[in-house]
Amino acid sequence: MSTPSKPKFITFEGIDGAGKSSHLSFVADLLAARGIRVTSTREPGGTPLGEQLRTVLLHQKMHLETEALLMFASRREHLAQVIEPALARGDWVISDRFTDATFAYQGGGRQLPVAKLEQLEQWVHPHLQPDLTLLFDVPLDVARARLDATRSLDKFEQEQNDFFAGVRGEYLRRAAQFPARFRIVDSTQSMAQVRAALTAIMASL
Ligand code: TMP
Repeated sequence: MSTPSKPKFITFEGIDGAGKSSHLSFVADLLAARGIRVTSTREPGGTPLGEQLRTVLLHQKMHLETEALLMFASRREHLAQVIEPALARGDWVISDRFTDATFAYQGGGRQLPVAKLEQLEQWVHPHLQPDLTLLFDVPLDVARARLDATRSLDKFEQEQNDFFAGVRGEYLRRAAQFPARFRIVDSTQSMAQVRAALTAIMASL
């Protein structure tokens, strides 16, 4: 009998308006079709406490260090309640955002020093990194046009172009720093083209 492959932890990332969330169920379905059990989740959130923190984080103004700490508090709970148990029972985990988002938004966007975020990362998940990070990338004007078509914008979505330039820049910097883990998906492409790219990436796992 062949040994089952180690369950994988896959994260979806990108600036607001990059369209990543619309592809989550597509990727989950691709894996399910291969007989893989999938746990789909998100950050901030993914647990009852995390979802309460999400509401606060997305709608309330706060000190930027408070924001970073609450992102990691939500993540600590998420790891303990959802991610680690799922991987331990053999599920693959797909998370709509993880720690790269904190580096991108609180680091690149809000300019919190990377060294502080690295300390929190070391504290909360010293031994776990995603096996694959799909970075859905679009230029800022494309993302802005998509957001402007949205009815009500949350605290992050209301930020200005220089903030998103910082977020996108940090995502791309991390993709260059960790090339074995990141795949950049050009999200200006049509839905069909993005799905074809995702199908090829997932087939390679
Ligand atoms: P979502 O709209 O993709 O669900 O993400 C919620 C927002 O939270 C999004 O604007 C990015 C932001 N965010 C951070 O600022 N830091 C983080 O660590 C995470 C996970 C999300």
